[in-house]
Amino acid sequence: MPQAEAAILAFAGSSRRGSLNQKLLEVAIGNAIALGAEVSVIDLRDLELPIYDQDLEAEAMPQNVLVFRQILAAHDGFLIASPEYNGSLAPLLKNALDWSSRPTSGIDGIDPYRGKIASIMSASMGPFGGLRSLGHLRGVLSKMGVLVLPEELALPMAHTAFEREKLREESVHRALERQIAQFVGALRLTGDHLCGAGSAVAIS
Ligand SMILES: Cc1cc2nc3c(=O)[nH]c(=O)nc-3n(C[C@H](O)[C@H](O)[C@H](O)COP(=O)(O)O)c2cc1C
Repeated sequence: MPQAEAAILAFAGSSRRGSLNQKLLEVAIGNAIALGAEVSVIDLRDLELPIYDQDLEAEAMPQNVLVFRQILAAHDGFLIASPEYNGSLAPLLKNALDWSSRPTSGIDGIDPYRGKIASIMSASMGPFGGLRSLGHLRGVLSKMGVLVLPEELALPMAHTAFEREKLREESVHRALERQIAQFVGALRLTGDHLCGAGSAVAIS
């Protein structure tokens, strides 16, 4: 019987208009789809999550935390592009990770993350491409039980890196292709062993 394709959830740590990380994510998504992967995209801003506050959580868990946790649970791999803010994670991303790592209805907090695979990247207008944030993101995701693949991309001078939604430099283009091939390959290899293989969730 043919195996179902692993489901990838893609999201960015910036939702601003003209986000360079969104652009990079789009290229990565295109690479994954070209390899036959199933990719869903979510805009973290659409979740409208308040800044995490334990008092707020005690009052009532925001409905969209439950929605996001269900979406995460329905996917096997996470494709994440995020900017670096002061050497670390962008708040949009960190806030979404924190809220979604909280236990809900007796389900362990990191349940939607545990045993999943992630491929991470960053784009910045600076010379280091957000490299420092990738180390932080890797650490946070690892703490949440995610296997973060070794290949990663830090795209420097990102405001000059694109030409008509494509990466200008051939070597960078190829590096991203390799990274996504590794990601899709790892998801296929792990197949049924992934904890999260489950039903599809519609994302508006
Ligand atoms: C609060 C703040 C802190 C930033 N800190 C860094 C940084 O530490 N390193 C870096 O390379 N760029 C930094 N930047 C620049 C962002 O990487 C740049 O604005 C990038 O384009 C944001 O990603 P986006 O285009 O996807 O929104 C910072 C930007 C902001 C707003």
